[in-house]
Amino acid sequence: MLILSFGFFWVTIRLSTCSDPIGIPDGHALDGRSDITMDDLDLIKQKINIVDLISEYLPLKKSGVNYKAPCPFHAEKSPSFVVSPERGIFHCFGCNVGGDIFKFLMLKDSMEFVDALDILAKRAGVTLSRKPSKDKDKKSKLFDANQKASQYFHYILTEHKLGEPALAYLKKRGLTDKTIKEFNLGYAPNSWDSLFKFMSKRGFTTSDLIDAGLAVASKSGGYDRFRGRVMFPLLDVKGQIIAFSGRILGVGEPKYINTPQTIIFDKGNCLYGLNLSKGEIRQTNAAILTEGEMDTIMSYQAGVKNVVASKGTALTAGQIDLIKKYTDTILLCFDSDSAGDAASRRGIEMADFAGLNIKVIKIPEGKDPAELSLKNVDLWKKAVEEAEPIYDYYLQSVAGRFNRNTAEGRKRIASEIAPLWAKISDNVTREFYIQKLSALIAIPEDIVRREVAKAGSSYAPTFENIIKQDGGGKEAFRSRRGRLEEYLMNLLLKIPADLTFVPNFPETLFTLEAYRSLYVLLVLYLDAVSFKGSAFNISDFVKTLPEELIPIVDGLYLTEIDDKLTNSKAWLNEINVVVAGLKKALVKASLEKLSDDIKNAESFGKIEQLQALTKRFRDLSLKLKNL
Ligand code: UTP
Ligand code: MN
Repeated sequence: MLILSFGFFWVTIRLSTCSDPIGIPDGHALDGRSDITMDDLDLIKQKINIVDLISEYLPLKKSGVNYKAPCPFHAEKSPSFVVSPERGIFHCFGCNVGGDIFKFLMLKDSMEFVDALDILAKRAGVTLSRKPSKDKDKKSKLFDANQKASQYFHYILTEHKLGEPALAYLKKRGLTDKTIKEFNLGYAPNSWDSLFKFMSKRGFTTSDLIDAGLAVASKSGGYDRFRGRVMFPLLDVKGQIIAFSGRILGVGEPKYINTPQTIIFDKGNCLYGLNLSKGEIRQTNAAILTEGEMDTIMSYQAGVKNVVASKGTALTAGQIDLIKKYTDTILLCFDSDSAGDAASRRGIEMADFAGLNIKVIKIPEGKDPAELSLKNVDLWKKAVEEAEPIYDYYLQSVAGRFNRNTAEGRKRIASEIAPLWAKISDNVTREFYIQKLSALIAIPEDIVRREVAKAGSSYAPTFENIIKQDGGGKEAFRSRRGRLEEYLMNLLLKIPADLTFVPNFPETLFTLEAYRSLYVLLVLYLDAVSFKGSAFNISDFVKTLPEELIPIVDGLYLTEIDDKLTNSKAWLNEINVVVAGLKKALVKASLEKLSDDIKNAESFGKIEQLQALTKRFRDLSLKLKNL
């Protein structure tokens, strides 16, 4: 365990390899008692309200969305022990202990994890066993439903007369029987209830089918969602079918329909084909990201197997996380001159931020990987081999679109590229491309570098430039304070990946109520992830937030921070500086108010009050000096 002090407290975050000082096995993996699953633990947590439990020990009082009490683990006057009923966890901002119901009992009654588990399981009425929880039941029911449905679709496609036109369609598009089998393709007959009837006979209820997204709810119960479509099962990396997409035969709208969001399917968190291609991705150390199912299938069939599909969406954070498990290089397919719209740029920035190398596979205009793989596989292989860094691709794109011989053209190139370069997170890479841009438009590097810095600073605030931004005055002070708080929150949401601890300061440092709640929830969340030995993940964190806070996080997350600050040391320093700045500002504001009070007391001759106020003024001035 690592504890550092930078003038204020730090919460320590345990890594999975670290031992726990009080004997909790990391991630609650129990010694030899593998029958106890995370689901058992989650179920117990669901059943026991942490507020009820802790209330038996402490006088909890409601405070916003949370509850507070004086901390039982250290001596204090004002309460800094916070409990979040929503998250089922507690945290003390004074002594930095935190955890869930199990941890609370272990600490409060000094017991081992297994004993806390026993007690709480009994209290929750949960028999610890291999028995899955209700939620698990439902999930496995949906996996079963999808599995069964895929067998049905596959059978219809490959063996039934009804599937003949679909089979002919796929053959016409060049798919082999082997591929159809490997990807477990199928056909949903053009009927309102054929799947429905098939599944009902096998024990699936209307609500199972609706919950799996296989059926659409209607007045009379439900009807088949997929009708007259080639079916592509979408698998997770464990090989379970989480969803389907269905393509119409030939032309028509919508071309594809997909399973909606379900409890086992989140579109942003999956990649089509990954279950088959992950080995190849690891071996070749690159993942080709195509747009569609057919691109992935045809490339795979042609022997270029390190391929997945994003299913028509821009790259998401969830997909980046998935890819990162297998490779650090992603090859995007762009057709000849699309430099990418805003959404794909956002995906590219996130991928860059996540440390992935991003390359672009250029394919001839109007073609797609499916077509190339079928008709000219050598060309496809060559295109993949010749994939070039996204930044070179951007340069070529502007070189082709603007006239470099005019001032106007050069200006437009610089203003399109500078913001992109500003977001390159690696310093060496950024500098390399600054030089390339400088050469391209024949403008000295210094000037280009300044343009890039300028483009960066418009959205990447630092403590320094916030402080410099305006003069004195109360209004200015207040708005500056607001900006600093916003900046601090922004920094906190971008904890460098290698950091094993986070700063911990009183939430009252934030004057904005929303930031206070957000900060408390963030610390609680970090306690929870560190307890499980996993790393901070912004999308998981967002899932824990009340709805009204989500837009705030989204907004902050989109505001970049300075590139330097992805380095954990620089990040810690910056946080330190901002916190000190905010503390100073708070003390200064109190001093201003005190001096008003002192003047008042003087003019009304209130001697006793005056003495108290003056003493307080002296104390605070001293505190300010020492900050
Ligand atoms: P495209 O329209 O480029 O289709 O959409 P495609 O991949 O070339 O498909 P084929 O070759 O005509 O069969 C790209 C991807 O966007 C998703 C699908 O995953 C598709 O593969 N999409 C497209 C939808 O989800 N719905 C649609 O209506 C269209
Ligand atoms: Mn296509």
